[in-house]
Amino acid sequence: MTKNWTPASWRSKPIKQVPTYPDPVALAHVESELRRYPPLVFAGEARNLKHELSLVAEGKAFLLQGGDCAESFAEHEADNIRDFFRVFLQMAIALTFGASKPVVKVGRIAGQFAKPRSSDTETKDGVTLPSYRGDIINGIEFDKASRTPDPQRMSEVYRQSAATLNLLRAFAQGGYANLDNVHKWMLGFIANSPQGERYSKLAQRISETMDFMRAIGITANTNSSLRETSFYTSHEGLLLGYEEALTRVDSTSGDWYATSGHMLWIGDRTRQSDHAHVEYCRGIKNPIGLKCGPSLEPDDLLRLIDILNPENEAGRLTLIARFGYDKVGDHLPQLIRAVEREGKKVVWSCDPMHGNTITANGYKTRPFERILKEVENFFAVHHAEGTYPGGIHIEMTGRDVTECTGGAHAISAEHLSDRYHTHCDPRLNADQALELAFLVAELLKKQRDAETTQATAR
Ligand code: PEP
Ligand code: CO
Repeated sequence: MTKNWTPASWRSKPIKQVPTYPDPVALAHVESELRRYPPLVFAGEARNLKHELSLVAEGKAFLLQGGDCAESFAEHEADNIRDFFRVFLQMAIALTFGASKPVVKVGRIAGQFAKPRSSDTETKDGVTLPSYRGDIINGIEFDKASRTPDPQRMSEVYRQSAATLNLLRAFAQGGYANLDNVHKWMLGFIANSPQGERYSKLAQRISETMDFMRAIGITANTNSSLRETSFYTSHEGLLLGYEEALTRVDSTSGDWYATSGHMLWIGDRTRQSDHAHVEYCRGIKNPIGLKCGPSLEPDDLLRLIDILNPENEAGRLTLIARFGYDKVGDHLPQLIRAVEREGKKVVWSCDPMHGNTITANGYKTRPFERILKEVENFFAVHHAEGTYPGGIHIEMTGRDVTECTGGAHAISAEHLSDRYHTHCDPRLNADQALELAFLVAELLKKQRDAETTQATAR
């Protein structure tokens, strides 16, 4: 058991990004209801994810983490979940081929509803209201009633997360994730992409491998790994009252687990080592992510690693670097060197979204070229340091939105207003997400070829 920790010990620490509920009695009532609800995930699943992430830490697997910036009540539809899952699986296949390693699949889904904001208030036409903090806290509409934090929203998040997770589990295990399906969808993407020719080489290798496996009798009927997949959920552990209510003792190990999702991460704005969010996360046994932005100094990082992963367990901690394409080179090497010097076991993942947000034509957007560039720079730094670039963390949707500029279909700033639907940050659309996966697959393949050359030269 973690020393001096309880699911509620965060309450005596300083806290940032916390909403002010007008009715504390109503808040306590919803929290006590949530405490009685069944867990959304089982501790054994979180342990399985931790094991898979330990393979990433050792350089034997690659992490793909992605989904909405913020899930919303308005977009809660089966089609949305299906379209996301369909693109995500295709990305995973492309990456599996590029890396020649298993890909650990973690969605930002079934719980990603709370948003940290840079300002507590928003002013429009002289009217100032509380900022939108995600559907778990308040509504996005700009009126006083919507922007007032409402605890009842936590119950709705629980219900929606349970329904989303139920469908994802059915897709993952019920045949939808069949490799033949995923392969067919991928060929459809390539046929329609202006850059299709570039990706067709990898797709061809996948087709040939599948033909070969079929020829020797390995099919979805005979092999469950071709018709099923493992898929995990994650979200930012921001609204701690909600997280506390869903924190449970696992009867098989006696340990505490967050049961709102398999993996929780700590945001870049709430990672102060003596504050509430770090306090909460240190006591749960789930895999934990930590966003690392430009203000994080190597000493702070080492202090956080000691607090969050005192036993130096591989798979427990994923460091999610989010610097901006032009800043990775300035910040990442010193963090990697500190981690290496102290022998800390971590997964290094690259979030190429949050350091690359700009405004164009009045919209918050992210240029595809910068997103790709940040991943390339992240890989280059790891190559130079002799460490393993373990994964990517992206904001994406399975839909054909126009929120990030660029990509093969060349979305321009003028196109952004066509289908700009996000509740928070701009997401890659289905084609852009898949394209990014193909380009990262190329990087992984290049890295693999370089390793082989080095090994034969030895
Ligand atoms: C996010 O992942 O949506 C987010 C807010 O990230 P960060 O904490 O890195 O800014
Ligand atoms: Co975001």
